[in-house]
Amino acid sequence: MLGGVFLLSLLGLLPPPAADALDNGLALQPTMGWLHWERFMCNTDCDRDPDNCISERLYMQMADVMVKEGWKEAGYEYVCIDDCWPSHQRDAQGRLQADPKRFPGGIKKLADYVHSKGLKLGIYADVGTKTCGGYPGSLGYYEADAQTFADWDVDLLKFDGCYMDWTLLGEGYINMSKALNKTGRSILYSCEWPLYEWPHQQPNYKAIRETCNHWRNFDDVYDSWSSVKSILAWTASHQDIIAPAAGPGGWNDPDMLVIGNFGLSHDQQESQMALWAIMAAPLLMSNDLRDICPRSKGLLQNRHIIAINQDPLGYQGYLTAKMDSFEVWEKRLSANRLAVAVLNTQEIGGARGFFLRAAPGWKICDPQCNVTQILPQYKELGVQNPHTKIVISVNPSGTALLTITPISSDSNTPYKLHWQDTSVKRKHTITF
Ligand code: GLA
Repeated sequence: MLGGVFLLSLLGLLPPPAADALDNGLALQPTMGWLHWERFMCNTDCDRDPDNCISERLYMQMADVMVKEGWKEAGYEYVCIDDCWPSHQRDAQGRLQADPKRFPGGIKKLADYVHSKGLKLGIYADVGTKTCGGYPGSLGYYEADAQTFADWDVDLLKFDGCYMDWTLLGEGYINMSKALNKTGRSILYSCEWPLYEWPHQQPNYKAIRETCNHWRNFDDVYDSWSSVKSILAWTASHQDIIAPAAGPGGWNDPDMLVIGNFGLSHDQQESQMALWAIMAAPLLMSNDLRDICPRSKGLLQNRHIIAINQDPLGYQGYLTAKMDSFEVWEKRLSANRLAVAVLNTQEIGGARGFFLRAAPGWKICDPQCNVTQILPQYKELGVQNPHTKIVISVNPSGTALLTITPISSDSNTPYKLHWQDTSVKRKHTITF
């Protein structure tokens, strides 16, 4: 069945991010790795559930699989601990310590192990008095905790925002950023500052970008399509505020990839992967890599999608059109290329066709462009020009992902792109 006809004449183009990124040389491309929270949560019962509890074994096994099963090769690098790793008490010197029963070797040994596999280790703490799970918070201990993480050779800190007076959030996140910097160790800094500030006021993304390597804006992801949809809807409705803040060194974080778990159909998994690539989101999987189906694995390791996510220019994409129960999202790529995701939001019936046609004046295909379909299957759709038309078929709650490469009559002349907001609804046009 064919759905709407759509004249593609839009593109979210923005100048490179104006604000300076946190100057630690990290996260020049969106972070890739694995993070325990969504799949393993606060399971501390190692007696009854030794394979799935939060323990050093879990991260060692994940690291082993990441190397053996091609994850590391695909770019997934950080093995990250979330909440519930510490002991409920600090040690006699006031330092955080790992739960001795679940982490008998301690975090330093675990970091050594993860490093021996050529991977990096992430840890979790909280800007306030307690973590969200009720473990010791870092308020009053920023320098001490940053030094502890550096002494353990940790490579990433996820810093949560529970149990904190919201008016002190900014100060807290900035002070921890300084404390990490002062240790002299390169520690990627993942924040939740805007998520906890939004209920009270619009966050200052310039300050956030100068402080953090990525930042959560919205609710925790769950293993469900409704959760993924709510994250996309929030992102789209705030894109003019948040997307310009993204770029090399600092990224909006729409939370973990839940691909390979229980709640998403394969089409929905493809949608999450495609849209996280378009959003230039950190790709932090939360799943069980020891037990994952081949299709999910293939999707998470898809080199073409990862390349869109990791594009060196670091533009975050935009929702540029909503039409006939389709959403079109576009991300500007290097070499004047463009990634386009077409999400079929109609959750009844079967696959629907979507017409893609270059509008007059849409110079990426004038005189010609090359179109490649990446999802749902890899397909070269060939050379197009302003008069040709492509129909792509998209399943309900699935996404077609394409790249468009201009074929310039004079390849030495770089395109001069700029964007215009020509109407109240976003409408982007490429002009030359
Ligand atoms: C918050 C965060 C989650 C996770 C939990 C842990 O909800 O947003 O990502 O870290 O805390 O308790």
